[in-house]
Amino acid sequence: MTTTKEYIQENKDRFIQELIELLKIPSISADSAYKNDILQAADNIKIRLQEAGCSIVEICETPGNPVVYGEKIIDSTLPTVLVYGHYDVQPADPIELWESPPFEPVIKKTKTHPEGAIFARGACDDKGQLYMHVKALEYMTATESLPCNVKFMIEGEEEVGSKNLEWFIKQNQEKLANDVILISDTGMISNSQPSITTGLRGLSYVEVEVTGPNRDLHSGLYGGAVANPINILTQMIASLHDKNNHITIPGFYDKVVELSKEERAEMGKAPFSLDDYKQALEIEDIHGEKGYTTNERNSIRPTLDVNGIWGGYIGEGAKTVIPSKAFAKISMRLVPNQDWEEITELFTKHFKSIAPKSVKVKVTPHHGGQGYVTPIESIGYQAASKAYEATFGIKPIPQRSGGSIPIVSLFEQELKSKTILMGFGLDSDAIHSPNEHFGVFNYLKGIETIPLFYKYFTELSK
Ligand code: BES
Ligand code: MN
Ligand code: MN
Repeated sequence: MTTTKEYIQENKDRFIQELIELLKIPSISADSAYKNDILQAADNIKIRLQEAGCSIVEICETPGNPVVYGEKIIDSTLPTVLVYGHYDVQPADPIELWESPPFEPVIKKTKTHPEGAIFARGACDDKGQLYMHVKALEYMTATESLPCNVKFMIEGEEEVGSKNLEWFIKQNQEKLANDVILISDTGMISNSQPSITTGLRGLSYVEVEVTGPNRDLHSGLYGGAVANPINILTQMIASLHDKNNHITIPGFYDKVVELSKEERAEMGKAPFSLDDYKQALEIEDIHGEKGYTTNERNSIRPTLDVNGIWGGYIGEGAKTVIPSKAFAKISMRLVPNQDWEEITELFTKHFKSIAPKSVKVKVTPHHGGQGYVTPIESIGYQAASKAYEATFGIKPIPQRSGGSIPIVSLFEQELKSKTILMGFGLDSDAIHSPNEHFGVFNYLKGIETIPLFYKYFTELSK
C-alpha cells in the first residue's frame, strides 16, 4: 500500500496548485461586492470534495452565504467525524502593505519557513487548513484506508461572526450528527513543537457612537465651551482600564474561571521566549494585565481593545473643527464562563453611565460568541495527540489560544459533541494581516497527520 508520505510526495505539486486556485478567489465575506466570489469558492470546494470521494455533496443555502456539505458514509455502525472549516476570508486591506497581491498566490522562502510558504489572503485562515482535510480524504479514498465515516461542513461567514450558522445547525441536526468535530483553524507553537489548542476565547464586539453638538462647529468659536465628542470618547475609553490594566466595568470579572497554581505552572512549561516575541513585533516592552504572563494574558484572561476609532477631520492639511460625532469599534475577548450577551449588556450599561451629560452615547452590539475549553482526557484529544506524535516525532503540548471560533461552543450546545482543534498554522503566519502565508511544510504535514487522527479515533472508539 502507498504510504501517506509517498502519496503526498507524488502529488505534492498538484496539492499546492489546487490550493493556489482556491486562494485566487477573493471570497471576502465582510464586503458584499464579493458575493460572486463567495459563491465561486463554495463551488470550488463542492467539486473538490466530490473528487476526493464524498458520495453526497451539496451547496446548502442559508439566509447568508451558503454552507458546503459533503459526506462519505462507509458503515453506519462506525464513528463519524465532522470536519468544519470556512472558505470566507478577511478583507485584504491595507493592500499597499502586501509584497505580492493578496489574491495572486506566490511561494516564497522565509526564516520560519525555509521550505517555502504560500503567500495569499486565506492561505492559513482558513483555506489552506481546510484544504488539508480535502486532500487527506483524497488519500484515504485512493488507498481505501478511510476507517470511519466523514462529514464536511464548510461555511462562508466565519469572519463576520457565523450569523446564520445557528439556524443552519438547528435545521440540520440529524444531517450533522457526529461523534467528534475536527477543525483546523488554529495554530501550533512551532514546526518543531506541535501543540493542540484546548481552549478558545469568547468575544463581544460592539460599536459606540458619541454625539456632542448637532453639527460640526468652528473650534475657535465654540472650542472650550461645548463637549468635543472625540475628547470625551477617548477619556471614556481610557477609563475602561485601571493602572494595573484591569478592566473597570463592574461585574466584568465575576464569572471568570481562575486557573489553579498547578494549571498555571503547567501552562508556563510551554516554550516561549519573551525576547523573540518583542523582536518579532519590534517593540521595546510588552503591556498587559498585572500579575499575569504574556501567554496567560493572551489566552486565559479576558481583554478589552479598541479595534478602530474615528471622527472629525482626517483629510489633508488642517481644518479647525469640533466634530459632532465620534465613533469606536471595541472588542472584548472573553474566557469561560463569561457569557457574551451578559458582557455586552454590562459594557453598554457602564459605558452609558460614564458619559457626561454633555454628550449622547449609542452602543450597537455587532456579534459575539462563547469561549470554549476541551478536556485532554477525551479520546478525540488522545487520537489527535497520537497523530501529531507519529508525524512530528514529538508529543504535542496542550495550549489555550486567544482567538475565537464562536461556532465551537454552539456545536457543543446543539450537537452535543466535542471539538478537536488540530491547527497547523503558526502565530507568525500573519493571519488577518498583510502578507498572510502558510508553510508548505505545514500544509503537507497536515495532510499527513489528519488520516492518523481518523485511524486512532476509530481504534480508541472501539
Ligand atoms: N481562525 C480564526 C481564529 C483563530 C486563529 C483561533 C488562530 C485561534 C488561533 C478565525 O477565523 C477568526 O479570525 N475568528 C475571529 C472571530 C470571528 C467571530 C470574527 C477572531 O478570533 O477574531
Ligand atoms: Mn479562521
Ligand atoms: Mn479569521
